[in-house]
Amino acid sequence: MDPRANAPSSIVEWTEAEKYQNSFLIHEQDDTLELILENSINHGLPSHMPVSAGEGKFLNLLIKCLGVKRVLEVGTLGGYSAIWMARAIPEDGKLVTLELSETYAQVAKENIAQAGFGDKCQIIIGPADETMTSLRPDIPFDMVFIDADKKSYPKYFREAKRLVKKGGVIIVDNVIRYGNVHDKSVNDENTVGIRKLLADLKEDSRKGEIEATTIPTVGEKGFDGFLYAIKK
Ligand SMILES: C[S@@+](CC[C@H](N)C(=O)[O-])C[C@H]1O[C@@H](n2cnc3c(N)ncnc32)[C@H](O)[C@@H]1O
Repeated sequence: MDPRANAPSSIVEWTEAEKYQNSFLIHEQDDTLELILENSINHGLPSHMPVSAGEGKFLNLLIKCLGVKRVLEVGTLGGYSAIWMARAIPEDGKLVTLELSETYAQVAKENIAQAGFGDKCQIIIGPADETMTSLRPDIPFDMVFIDADKKSYPKYFREAKRLVKKGGVIIVDNVIRYGNVHDKSVNDENTVGIRKLLADLKEDSRKGEIEATTIPTVGEKGFDGFLYAIKK
């Protein structure tokens, strides 16, 4: 039978498909993450914004398999993805995460401390196009995860290239946005930002600076994609 004939047609069904996978691959009972999501909601943080559990675990596995020690994240929210990553970062490693909202950063600080990673994670508050530009780390980062305002993605990616080591990895979330990015009739500033990032990446690749690919994703977060890039 052609599996496409029976493909789910709604996000609700795709969410079930993702839950089924997770039921085999991700611990059902993760009290720490459940508590921090609950704390975030209680403080009024948007519940649809954190990465999915599968994406969080993907970041976690990537850190383990690449031996990543130093991670920069753009877009902290309540610290959900930060905690998934901090779990994989070794004791002598560090995660720096950038957040615009003081309120969100305060909740993330509580959540990250609650998860036991207060010493491993540093939250820097302010607009990332300023805080990221002002970073001058002694040792470059091994990995950068970009998950904030999409209109600034071209700038964040340029800064990520400056801040990550040669051979380091840059992951960018939400690059498909329900298929809006390739649809030229959609021209909001976030979609345009991702389109510009892709054009920049084409040029980076031509110059031999970056190699990248997009993994489309589907599930509880809808139709989207993770962009995975290596600095050459
Ligand atoms: C999708 S959420 C991040 C989710 C988080 N990575 C997770 O998975 O748990 C995007 C975050 O970026 C933050 N943000 C938006 N614009 C920003 C900016 N200019 N500078 C820094 N952070 C920004 C938002 O406040 C929000 O917390």
